[in-house]
Amino acid sequence: MNKALRINSTFECDLLIVGAGGAGLRCAAEVLDKRPQTQIMAITKGAHPQKSHTSTAQGGLAAVDPKDPADKPIYHMFDTWKGSDCAADQNIICKICDAAWEQIVWLENKGMHFSRDTDGKPGKRTFGGHTVNFGESSAYRAVFEADRTGKGIMDTCWGESLKRGITFINQGIATELLFSRNQCVGCIVFKQKQGEFIRILSKATVLATGGSGQIFKVTTNCRQNTGDGLALILQTGLPVMDPEAVQFHPTGIVGPGILASETLRSVGGILRNRDKQAFMEHYAPKMKELAPRDLVSRAIASEIRAGRGIFNPDHNVEHIWIDLRHLPDAVHDKQIPEVTGFFKKYLNLDPKKELCPVHPSNHYHMGGIPTSVYGEVQDISGQSIPGLFAIGECAAASFHGFNRLGTNSLLELITMGKFVGDNILAYLSRVPGKLPEAEGRHSVSQFTGYLDARGKDNIGHIRDAMRMLMTENVGIFRTEEGLTKAVDVLNELKARADKTALSSKSLRMNQELVQHWELDNLLTVSMAVAQGALNRRESRGAHFREDFPERRDAFNYHTLVSMKQFAKVEFSKRDVDMSIFEEGGKHYEKFGIIERRY
Ligand code: FUM
Repeated sequence: MNKALRINSTFECDLLIVGAGGAGLRCAAEVLDKRPQTQIMAITKGAHPQKSHTSTAQGGLAAVDPKDPADKPIYHMFDTWKGSDCAADQNIICKICDAAWEQIVWLENKGMHFSRDTDGKPGKRTFGGHTVNFGESSAYRAVFEADRTGKGIMDTCWGESLKRGITFINQGIATELLFSRNQCVGCIVFKQKQGEFIRILSKATVLATGGSGQIFKVTTNCRQNTGDGLALILQTGLPVMDPEAVQFHPTGIVGPGILASETLRSVGGILRNRDKQAFMEHYAPKMKELAPRDLVSRAIASEIRAGRGIFNPDHNVEHIWIDLRHLPDAVHDKQIPEVTGFFKKYLNLDPKKELCPVHPSNHYHMGGIPTSVYGEVQDISGQSIPGLFAIGECAAASFHGFNRLGTNSLLELITMGKFVGDNILAYLSRVPGKLPEAEGRHSVSQFTGYLDARGKDNIGHIRDAMRMLMTENVGIFRTEEGLTKAVDVLNELKARADKTALSSKSLRMNQELVQHWELDNLLTVSMAVAQGALNRRESRGAHFREDFPERRDAFNYHTLVSMKQFAKVEFSKRDVDMSIFEEGGKHYEKFGIIERRY
């Protein structure tokens, strides 16, 4: 065993937050607001909390304004249920949609600058699948800060959490959860700058590690989104839920797939194929460009498959166009300045005059760590694990089911951050003051394995091969053959990764060492996604099986996947909560297993 590797010191706190993005810091702000003496530590993998992926969110945050005579929370609930392809949980839909506007007021009171309409009221946009009167016409319910809404949320939550004091560990990675008699009591953290492990004992631990988009080659996700929270949960033997439910955003900027916000279609952008034809009416006759993302992404991929895409030689990919040329200058300059800037910066194109090339890009993981409506992490039998909570993209309560509506993720992170903060306050008042001790068993031997490996391979090459494999076989269109191939090749890649030597054995700021750990996480999450997709022999929301193209009632449940050992998966199920339907109140029939047309 490498002699330099050991757990160097132990720290204690009341609340440990792993991941300092919007969800984690909204939770911290709530706790500190109501119990300022709470000792909170927050770990971020990046150089600074402001580098969290939340900052990159563009389009907005869905919330029904109580002053809007046309809109109602029940419409938002219906849209979310229908959008999810009848696979979200109705208890959490109800809780989040009802609390949405309160959180807009909270953000504004804390200083967020929402864009205004000409009367000075909060401006509102429509997004795909958001309607009034149960699908009658588009709903204008997304509030926004130009096309950099996530940055506004991040600034606000970060500022609030700093006000009362919080200890940040930047460039830290959580490598192992600690348990004492089934209660989570903190985690082991590797501090990259110091090159050392520390143990943090905590009364409550929140996983808020964000997404896992880096399992795909083309993604809107930041470099750090490597599914770390999901891998951490699987490592403990706990399950992840609906891993196969992965969203592809219709409009990634051709090449790396940087997000070109749905706002572009909200303000009137038109998708065109090689012949400059607007094609969405053939796929979603009523909602067209503003159908939900799963439909629009499949429509684009189908146009390309039918030979109506345009080949981009620079990136070796086919794409379609988004046409923004007809939009007034004021829309370009005030509503979509960031995205317009991206097209200029990365492709040297002027969207006021030229067509812009876009292609679906992996965007969001609807699946994640199964939780209660209070963010309590659950085991396969639905029992909550004391002291362990999860929020944000890494968690699945499940508000989005198998397809998330645009602007519902920022809403989810901000509302769930608050709810979980409140729940943690209640939890902290119940748990005894003294923390139990717990040893880390896994982290030192895992990193020793990385340092002792001697094989001649390359972590970066393995990672690239995995991302390509997932894009080609576990993407928008899936088949038994492709998924089986993905599972087989993931096994081979894992065997290669385990043997690969690091070129430097240094512990401090050794990017290759951290990338080896990330690669393990990526391979683990990829395996759960591929196996989940193989197991679900139907099509639902963003999970589309060409060999089973219809939704099937036999799959009206959430998949639970456990994986104590790499690739050795065990499946179980969680019921979809249908409490709105079962309560039988007004409009209850809209919340049954409904047909999904747009
Ligand atoms: O298209 C967008 O601006 C993304 C919004 C979202 O994912 O909610």
